[in-house]
This record gives sequence, structure tokens and C-alpha cells, in this order.
Amino acid sequence: MVKVLFVCLGNICRSPMAEAVFQEKVNKAGLGDKILVDSAGTAAYHVGERAHGGTRKVLSTHNIAYDGHSRKITRADFNQYDYILAMDRSNYENILSVKPPDTNARIELFLSYAGGVDVDEVPDPYYTGGFDYVYDLVEAGAEGLLKAIRERHGI
Ligand code: 4NP
Repeated sequence: MVKVLFVCLGNICRSPMAEAVFQEKVNKAGLGDKILVDSAGTAAYHVGERAHGGTRKVLSTHNIAYDGHSRKITRADFNQYDYILAMDRSNYENILSVKPPDTNARIELFLSYAGGVDVDEVPDPYYTGGFDYVYDLVEAGAEGLLKAIRERHGI
């Protein structure tokens, strides 16, 4: 099983969207029993809450289901997940700051897997909106990530 964890700050806007979009691609590829997907935040501000209305709206526009609730990343995640993918550099630094020394997880910027986009961070839509643009970036990242994982792990 390849395990993928998407991480943002609050786990209500960007990483839930990435989780849902990537899970949809995994399901469509028939790889639901080979790739496990989850998301988490580096902050606990919204723990237990549903995804932001903007994220839920854009997902429903694209007919993608999502019913997750916010949680904060834990030390155990670093032993559990093979890929821990940050939405922006601030998330990336926050992940490194809580990383135990002995993890084998690949900790990377999510958009390092995206083709055809000219940015490498997913902007935070919480204050300023832009959920449709975030969706476009997430879609490109998820597509490239699935391709990379399939090649790398022979699935
Ligand atoms: P996310 O967006 O990290 O994409 O879930 C945010 C959600 C909440 C806050 C900031 C960003 N906040 O400050 O509460």
C-alpha cells in the first residue's frame, strides 16, 4: 500500500481538496486498494470541522465527493505515510519542524508533481478566495502525482 498525506495549514481548504481530487483519480484508476489517501493541517484551529464551503462547492461542481473533517498532523503520520505533500513553503517548513528524525516519508511540495503550471505553491484561499484557481492547481498536481506513483511503485 502506498500512503499519501496532503498537508496545509488548517486542513479545511487546500489539503481536503487535494485529498478528494486525488482519491477520485485513484478510484477511477481502480487503485483504491493500492493507494491510501488522507489529509491533515499543521495547525489545530479547525480540528473536527468539515471542509470550507468554498472547497465543498468547487468539489461538488466537479462531482467529487468529500466528507472528511479537519485533523492536525501527528508524529505517527511520519511513520505511517510514504508521501507527505505540502501545499506551500510555509506548510513545508511547519512539517519539517514537527518531523521526527527517523522518518522515511518523502516530504515534498505537492506542486512539484504538477505539469503545465507556472507556480510551485498552492495559494491559501481562506482569506481571499480563488477556489477555482486552487482547484486547477490541485488537479494538475494530482494528475502528475498519480502518474509518478504508478511509475515509481509499478502499479
Ligand atoms: P487551508 O486554509 O490551510 O488551505 O485549510 C486555511 C484555513 C484556515 C486558516 C488559514 C488557512 N486559518 O487561519 O484559520
